[in-house]
Amino acid sequence: MSTGSEVLKWKYSQFLKNKKNNFNKNNILNVLTKHEIDEAYKIISKWENYSPTPLISLKKLSEKLKLNNIFYKDESKRFHLKSFKALGGSYAVEKVTKGKKNIIISTATAGNHGRSVAWGSKKLGLKCKIFISEYVSEFRAKVMRSFGADVIRVKGNYDNSLKECIKQSKQNKWQIIQDVAWQDYKLVPKLTMAGYTVMMKEISEQINNKKISHVILQAGVGGMAAAMIAGIARYLNHIPQIIVVEPESAACVLESIKAGKIEKISIKKESLMGGMSCDEVSMVPWEILKNSVNHCVTVSDNYISKTVKSLSNCEFSKEKIIGGECSTPGIIGLAGLCNDNEIKKKINLNDRSNVLLFGCEGDADEELYQKLLN
Ligand SMILES: Cc1ncc(COP(=O)(O)O)c(C=O)c1O
Repeated sequence: MSTGSEVLKWKYSQFLKNKKNNFNKNNILNVLTKHEIDEAYKIISKWENYSPTPLISLKKLSEKLKLNNIFYKDESKRFHLKSFKALGGSYAVEKVTKGKKNIIISTATAGNHGRSVAWGSKKLGLKCKIFISEYVSEFRAKVMRSFGADVIRVKGNYDNSLKECIKQSKQNKWQIIQDVAWQDYKLVPKLTMAGYTVMMKEISEQINNKKISHVILQAGVGGMAAAMIAGIARYLNHIPQIIVVEPESAACVLESIKAGKIEKISIKKESLMGGMSCDEVSMVPWEILKNSVNHCVTVSDNYISKTVKSLSNCEFSKEKIIGGECSTPGIIGLAGLCNDNEIKKKINLNDRSNVLLFGCEGDADEELYQKLLN
């Protein structure tokens, strides 16, 4: 059996229906407003070298899974930063600093967010301090340094790097540009989400009036997923079923949906999908996710390498796609759901379905990408 057909055997790990689902456009656009969304597009679309990233048809995969269409938003082409995160952090830097030059920027990151913040700071001539945990690869650190940032490695996990960032930023009066919210820190995470919504504006123009029936959204702390839902509320007339996908080892959105409130989980083993290995959904995204997500699904790391290879070998589409580890869970989750006949029927995945997936990153960590490929 070719790798491309192996998908017919893949399984999801956990599936959960959100009993509190009640999609409400107005409530969503009260959290992230139409004005905030429109302003982000107006500003970002004028950045140098801006162009929409491709929306690719995974035709071969849709034939295997017996679906009408699978659209894949290829964020490996986002500026030269190779992930959708380029839209968020750098936009927040620009909005918060408002042209001032005497500000030092700081952030904690799993990699792509920091790259965006470093790039945004460099564009504006601002100094930047980036805190990373021991799990962030040296390759990713090097890229951030190449944008002129000071990269500070902290012992322990992402939480430790964030704590250290907050501590040093308070001491030194640095401006934190973080993509997660906490009490009294909600404006910047909102701005990063507003930046991400540019993806949905592009998609709304790329689908040629086709109705998306299902969208699968990766979640770490939930910022990207909630931003896409806000984008759906702003730009789409037809509201698709919304499915959140997470690593089985870091299902903080699923656990929160199950509990009906934000639940901090304990991560036993970090997922290879580093950007999604998060233990707590962020407060601003939660306000959107809690009632608008239809289903949650989790996936195992075991299928990541196979998916990376299949994307690269044109087994899912006619064109070669460079998709890094965080680009894979949408495909893995979709295959898992389609391979479970009962669930497939229950959530109306069939030959009329047009499914939207997000290829969140390319080979943002080139060394890990080569390992996964080989
Ligand atoms: C590269 C990368 N980082 C992070 C995330 C998670 O985003 P968030 O933390 O906003 O949920 C994703 C989502 O898939 C991702 O692909």
